[in-house]
Amino acid sequence: MYLFPELEIPEKKLRAVLVGCGEQATCLMHDAITYVAALDVVGVCDLNKERADFAARRFGLSRSYQDLDEMLSSVKADVAFVIMVPRLAPKLAKKCVEAGLDVYTEKPLGTDIQDLYELEAALKKTGRKLGVSFNKRFGLAYSDMKRAIDSEGFGHPAVFNVRFIGGYRSSPTDLLRTGSCHFFDLGRYMIGEIEEVFAYKYEQAPGQHVFAVSAMFDNGCVGSYTLGSVGSWACGYGMEAVDVRGDRNMVCADNGRDFMWQKPSKILNSYADGASNQNTQAVAEQAVPVEILRPNYSNPGKLTESTYFINGNFQCIRAFVDAILKGEEPPVGFHDGMMALKIAMAIEKSVEEKRAVRIDEIH
Ligand SMILES: NC(=O)c1ccc[n+]([C@@H]2O[C@H](COP(=O)([O-])OP(=O)(O)OC[C@H]3O[C@@H](n4cnc5c(N)ncnc54)[C@H](O)[C@@H]3O)[C@@H](O)[C@H]2O)c1
Repeated sequence: MYLFPELEIPEKKLRAVLVGCGEQATCLMHDAITYVAALDVVGVCDLNKERADFAARRFGLSRSYQDLDEMLSSVKADVAFVIMVPRLAPKLAKKCVEAGLDVYTEKPLGTDIQDLYELEAALKKTGRKLGVSFNKRFGLAYSDMKRAIDSEGFGHPAVFNVRFIGGYRSSPTDLLRTGSCHFFDLGRYMIGEIEEVFAYKYEQAPGQHVFAVSAMFDNGCVGSYTLGSVGSWACGYGMEAVDVRGDRNMVCADNGRDFMWQKPSKILNSYADGASNQNTQAVAEQAVPVEILRPNYSNPGKLTESTYFINGNFQCIRAFVDAILKGEEPPVGFHDGMMALKIAMAIEKSVEEKRAVRIDEIH
């Protein structure tokens, strides 16, 4: 049964605790969580009492917690949402797993590979499940891009191009391991495993960097990533762009929102037959219309026009909750978070050692 087309009335529910009530949680994730009807929020926690109290009020709770251990021992829950500073996220996720909870964690899964190995051991020991918030996989523009790439006639993906140049970052590591991990994940999701990277780094000043990365996918597709922190977080266009070429098919998405698909043009004449090929271009083509998808920003009364739906946060959380309710592995999980960190580390190693680095060199 449905409340609205996207909102199911659930048969079963999960009791959820929210760990971390900072900016991403308050402005985006808590909104998305309220719309997942299979979740009952039973506890909220943040070191910062004002932030935790604000979340408690929002979810109709009489109190908040400032200490995770205290919350875990006082509140009976099934799942935890860890929306935390990246350095601490895997440590707190591990505590929740050891307390018997399944965990959904914001990206990145972590920034220190040792922490991830420890979290992995805890998951294996307890049999608990973990989901990672690689919400772009579920975002409207990138879902459409994936559908186009997988469609009949698109052809083998030839090149995966990413430009992601946001505002200042605290360090190059932060840019790669925290900021860019979405795009390593999107490459793996849309194209295939990345086998090897070669990278150059430009540094303007501390916090202002650009990496130019060439990547090789296991299916032969080549990748090109330009990842930087010399731009602006507030720009309305051009901060993030992804495009993929197939066999005369071109798909691109700007700022994760505006999607465009140029389907193969009509071939008027082919000169690619040797003797008559006097032209530098092998075919003469006639343009065909382009398919464009752009969210209707002036109709926010629809769930599908809300930020957390356009960006895929709601769908990513709901996919995790559905999997937990069915006893299945979440569709985006520990392995995906680990691979994104390994790709970032391989890029750092390539810059340092001035050579191509295979992802399987990283441990
Ligand atoms: N999916 C996306 O596109 C996206 C976008 C932005 C941020 N994020 C991620 O969201 C996460 C949070 O980012 P943010 O910008 O909200 O950070 P933030 O600093 O605003 O929030 C982190 C919160 O954690 C709290 N905290 C720190 N240590 C704690 C502890 N030991 N126990 C309880 N609370 C503690 C802090 O008080 C703070 O309120 C990061 O992992 C970031 O990468 C994801």
